[in-house]
Amino acid sequence: MEINKLLRPHLRNLTPYSSARDEFQGTAEVYLDANENAFGSTSKDIYRRYPDPYQTELKSRIGEIKDIGIENIFLGNGSDEPIDLLIRAFCNPKTDKIMITPPTYGMYEVSANISDVEIVKVELSEDFMLDPTRILESIDENVKIIFLCSPNNPTGNSIDKRDIIEIVKKTQGLVVLDEAYIDFSPNRSLISELNNYPNLIILQTFSKAWGLAALRLGMAFANPEIIGILNMIKPPYNINGATQELALNAIENEKKMQEMVKYMIAQKKQLISSLIKISSVKKIYPSDANFVLAKVDRAHEIYLKLIDNKVIVRDRSNVALCRDCLRITIGTKEENLKLIESLNYFNR
Ligand SMILES: Cc1ncc(COP(=O)(O)O)c(C=O)c1O
Repeated sequence: MEINKLLRPHLRNLTPYSSARDEFQGTAEVYLDANENAFGSTSKDIYRRYPDPYQTELKSRIGEIKDIGIENIFLGNGSDEPIDLLIRAFCNPKTDKIMITPPTYGMYEVSANISDVEIVKVELSEDFMLDPTRILESIDENVKIIFLCSPNNPTGNSIDKRDIIEIVKKTQGLVVLDEAYIDFSPNRSLISELNNYPNLIILQTFSKAWGLAALRLGMAFANPEIIGILNMIKPPYNINGATQELALNAIENEKKMQEMVKYMIAQKKQLISSLIKISSVKKIYPSDANFVLAKVDRAHEIYLKLIDNKVIVRDRSNVALCRDCLRITIGTKEENLKLIESLNYFNR
């Protein structure tokens, strides 16, 4: 597959911004090339300097834990940034399209709308699985990117790997597989498949299992050609210096991440067993993520009553295939107890 042919024509000859750190990368005694403050900083002294635009040190640590080369890694200001950059790189406004499989994460649609790119929607089945036949039938030459999400938000289930691979193999466009919740799942990431499929892009994030949502650090893994395109069009210093520093430290805490995941899984099991005993709860869908989707009687009413009780969940009632569904993040033992007590109180 020729990725360059998928790229929007006007970007094939783009001259990207060249930063001071692009133009001189060695070490020197005196740096007077970037209009930084020579006299100090109102915060930590190292923040005086612009950060590494390609985050080499952080990428090499991420490469070690993900078992992938740094030439296959792009880091974004959250995984929302590569979602937006991919649409801007590959989809011509008004003519090209993306495909999504509702119910799924909302930013694919929002980013496409911002770029004036049409959205083809092929709903998941009633049990929230992909239908590769319907998906492949609905692709035309203008569908440049298919967004898949596993474990999926807001449903929580994992998508069958064979279905994903079938779509990756049979489409002429790119497939973005969003694995934001993969660290909670018993299934393995499809990063190991990247070498086999040049049109596959995998997204992951530090916002969920690593507990670093405020730092805004997302990852895209793909072949070097796609990574090069993202680097070409990104804002020069898209990952700030504090985030690079804090993420490097956090990676040394991988054990804590794994412990939190274990704790979350235990809490999820308990929460599900309490929820299904409540008469207004009709169904809890299978979840490999750090939340569950619950079908309840009169979801919106329950949602509002929970707010009165200072417990906030997400009302997904208006989302395709999710009528009367609430999405509930797994909380601590105490938080989950408060939720269950509130739900039981409404049921009296
Ligand atoms: C499926 C999915 N992808 C991406 C994101 C965004 O992640 P980030 O915080 O890295 O932008 C979310 C956030 O909820 C999500 O649910």
